Amino acid sequence: MQKLLERLIEKHLPTTRYGKCAEYIPVLAEQDPSQLGITVVTKDQKVYQAGRFPKRFTLQSISKVIALMLAVMDNGDRKVFSKVGMEPTGDPFNSIYNMEMMKWKKPLNPMINAGALVVTSLIKGRTAREKAGRIIRLIEEMTGSKEIEVDEEVFRSEYETAHRNRALAHLLKELNLIDRVEETLEAYLLQCSIQVTCEDLAKIGLCLARYGQTFDNRMVIPVYVSRMAKTFMVTCGMYNESGEFAIKVGIPAKSGVSGGILASVPMEMGIGVFGPALNEKGNSIGGVALLEDLSRELDLSIF
Ligand code: DON
Repeated sequence: MQKLLERLIEKHLPTTRYGKCAEYIPVLAEQDPSQLGITVVTKDQKVYQAGRFPKRFTLQSISKVIALMLAVMDNGDRKVFSKVGMEPTGDPFNSIYNMEMMKWKKPLNPMINAGALVVTSLIKGRTAREKAGRIIRLIEEMTGSKEIEVDEEVFRSEYETAHRNRALAHLLKELNLIDRVEETLEAYLLQCSIQVTCEDLAKIGLCLARYGQTFDNRMVIPVYVSRMAKTFMVTCGMYNESGEFAIKVGIPAKSGVSGGILASVPMEMGIGVFGPALNEKGNSIGGVALLEDLSRELDLSIF
């Protein structure tokens, strides 16, 4: 495994030249786009790591999976899905178009920003910080880490430039899908700014792969919730590239604009990838190529 990961990183490092770091969040724009790394944690608790990446990076949209699980654990699936749909979309992650069309009366799914804002508003907690704190604790339970915290610089940078997300939150308020606009926006941006290591991502992936059971055998998420999370990862996890990713890679995965990808191979392994150069859909360009090869070489597709 170690040799395979090193070979694939070597092969795909040049791919990073064809992508670009996210530019709309100043702190993310300053990242070195030539980085690419991967961590795999297998079901027998072996950790393999290859490539070059910072110790910690922010979850960004990967947090939408964790927030969804917590909201469902807090409220039950019936309440959550009365306010957000389950269908994939061909539109970009931060699209306002569907909300404006008003055809559906609720965001299409929890992995686009409109849906994620609704989901986060449902997480129990009196303040935005309290909601984010509960997401952090769930991540700590899944990973066994005690070092999960918010990158305050990224949070501030996002908060100051969150014009589109704020607009989405106001539309959601108009539709009676959320209550407090600023608190919801703050909680959502805090969750996006939570820092993890590549190993944390892999351990989250393994926890989902084991239907809610951690690498060290603690049951922290109900089976039906982890199954739901992986299903959304397949249908909506890579935004409007989810279909192509399912065909070429076939592994439940969720990306974020910082360049991270969380991937989960049922009953086998969790994978964390980092590569901040993104393709035009907002997914790590090197990361997607890397996962495609890894899936083919180890026959990991779930289909
Ligand atoms: O909502 C935003 O703009 C970001 N903080 C998170 C978006 C994100 O990661 C989308 N990913 N591809």
